Amino acid sequence: MKNFLTSLSLALMVATPAIAESMGDAKIGKTLHDKSCIACHASKFGGDGSKMYTRADRKVSSQQQLSSRVKACNNNVGSGWFPEEEAHVAAYLNATFYHLK
Ligand code: HEC
Repeated sequence: MKNFLTSLSLALMVATPAIAESMGDAKIGKTLHDKSCIACHASKFGGDGSKMYTRADRKVSSQQQLSSRVKACNNNVGSGWFPEEEAHVAAYLNATFYHLK
């Protein structure tokens, strides 16, 4: 319970600026992302999954690429997300790492 509350408040801090601006809800996106996506990315970067999005040669450089990348990874992983859920995850990644316009 304590861990849950800690991550919830972290998520709120991260998410607040994004909610107003974007198509998805970054707070929901973080939960979805951390559940389905982070482990594989982390295994490629010595445990820090966020390096996938902050590495110098990252692939995504527009909102549109971000959305299609999230969709492609979602299809690969078979998380079975709806388009709204993909939008939440894209909003979370953008608010936290990409800061694309
Ligand atoms: C089985 C492993 C695996 C899983 C699970 C996975 N990914 Fe990925 N992801 C990768 C790899 C490998 C790359 C790097 C591909 C490249 O460099 O071209 C990547 C790249 C990405 C990128 C682009 C990073 C960049 O370069 O800017 C995004 C965004 C992304 N993944 C989102 C997700 C999301 C969202 C999920 C959950 C639905 C997810 N991934 C699940 C392996 C995975």
